[in-house]
Order: sequence, then structure tokens, then C-alpha cells
Amino acid sequence: MVPSGADGAALWAATPPTPATMTDHADVDRPPTPTASGLPAPLVRICFASRDGQARKIAGRLVERLGDDGVAVDMLDLVPAPPVAEAVDGASLVVVVAAVLYGKHLKDAQRFLAAYQQHAETPPLALASVNLTARKPGKRTAETNPYLRKLIARLGLQPVATAVFAGRLNYPAYRWSDRQIIRFIMLVTGGPTDGKSVFEYTDWPSVDAFAAEIRAALPSIRA
Ligand SMILES: Cc1cc2nc3c(=O)[nH]c(=O)nc-3n(C[C@H](O)[C@H](O)[C@H](O)COP(=O)(O)O)c2cc1C
Repeated sequence: MVPSGADGAALWAATPPTPATMTDHADVDRPPTPTASGLPAPLVRICFASRDGQARKIAGRLVERLGDDGVAVDMLDLVPAPPVAEAVDGASLVVVVAAVLYGKHLKDAQRFLAAYQQHAETPPLALASVNLTARKPGKRTAETNPYLRKLIARLGLQPVATAVFAGRLNYPAYRWSDRQIIRFIMLVTGGPTDGKSVFEYTDWPSVDAFAAEIRAALPSIRA
């Protein structure tokens, strides 16, 4: 019997890791936008680590929203993890959007963040986690989501902004063994078990609100 409100974190963690499959980079190199003063505008670099595409989609939405607001922004795939010096080059703020698989953020994201933390000069960091535990309203902050809380504590990160987004359940895209394991976890945590369906849980207004938070963090960084 699973206690009501259980998020299944222990169940997810008890299952075996799956190798990441996406290895292509999606860097977008844009020249810095000059400001009225002639100085380059602060650049926000949105880094993402995604296996099945939802963290990438969320990163894309952040790029769109910040771009709509006139913020210079580009995107960088963290799979495989790039050298930190390259990833921070020219950036005033780095945002990491990382998916959770089997109890942990994708390895490349963890590797990148550990190196980021050790690197001598890095811009401020904003951090977002994408997982299915966050489909429960009580698991959507850095304090209440077990994956993001542990990641921040383990690496000693000091993000200027954090977010937790519910991801997507895409049963048809999973290999058979993953599908069975996830159906079982959904069964005990009160989620859908129909192995033929796709459920997108991401709350897009929350993603837009995170974009606004990032935007708001910029002037203080510039000063
Ligand atoms: C193999 C697999 C393992 C997963 N493990 C977890 C988990 O441990 N905890 C959780 O909350 N969600 C878990 N999820 C849900 C993913 O975090 C969610 O599907 C997310 O959208 C994945 O991001 P991506 O599409 O960018 O790869 C898992 C999904 C898959 C396919």
C-alpha cells in the first residue's frame, strides 16, 4: 500500500538508468545585440539536457519568451556536456533546464553543473528541473521537489532563480521495459497507465513566469 500523496521518488530511484540517446548539439550563435550605449546587451544562454524532448521544448519556449521581451538569448545542448568555458563564453546569465530519468538529472547535466560550480568565473545560474513527480502540485519548487533539492544540495549550487516543471509521459516512445516500469510507477502514484497514450503535464504559463523571472534578474546582474 502506497501512502496517499506519495510521489514515487523512491520507486523511480530504485529502477535502472537508461542511457541517454540524444547527442546532437543545437547551439544557436547570434551576434551580441548592441545597446544604445554601444555596449553588447546581456546575453542569456539557455542550456538544456533532454532525452525525450520535453526539456528541450521548455528551453525553446524560454528562448521565445525572452526573445519576445527583447532579451538577447541563445540555446545550447548539454548532451554531451560541453566545456564550461565554452558554455559561459559571452553569457551574462546561464539557465540550465534538465530532465530527470530514474531518480537523477541526466548525467551530462550533472557533470556540467559540477564543473560549473568548480569553474573560476561563471555568470549567475538559473536552474529548472523537468520530471513527472512535479505533476503533483506539492512537488513543484526547489524546496519540495526531491530531485532539484538534492541536486542543489549535493553540488552546493546557488541559483538566482529555480523552477520545477512537470514533463511529458510518452508511452509509445518508450522501449518495452521502460514502459512497463513507468506504468507500474504510475499505477502506485495514481497516474495514467494506458500504455498507448501521451500526456503532457507541462504548465506553460509557469514556464512563461520563469522567463519573466530570468528577465527580472538581468538588470541586477548588469549593475
Ligand atoms: C526512462 C524514464 C525514467 C524516468 N524517471 C523519472 C523519475 O525518476 N522521476 C520522475 O519524476 N520522472 C521520471 N521520468 C519522467 C521524465 O522526467 C519526463 O518524462 C520528462 O518529460 C523527461 O524529459 P525529456 O523529455 O526532456 O527527456 C522518467 C521518464 C522516463 C522515460
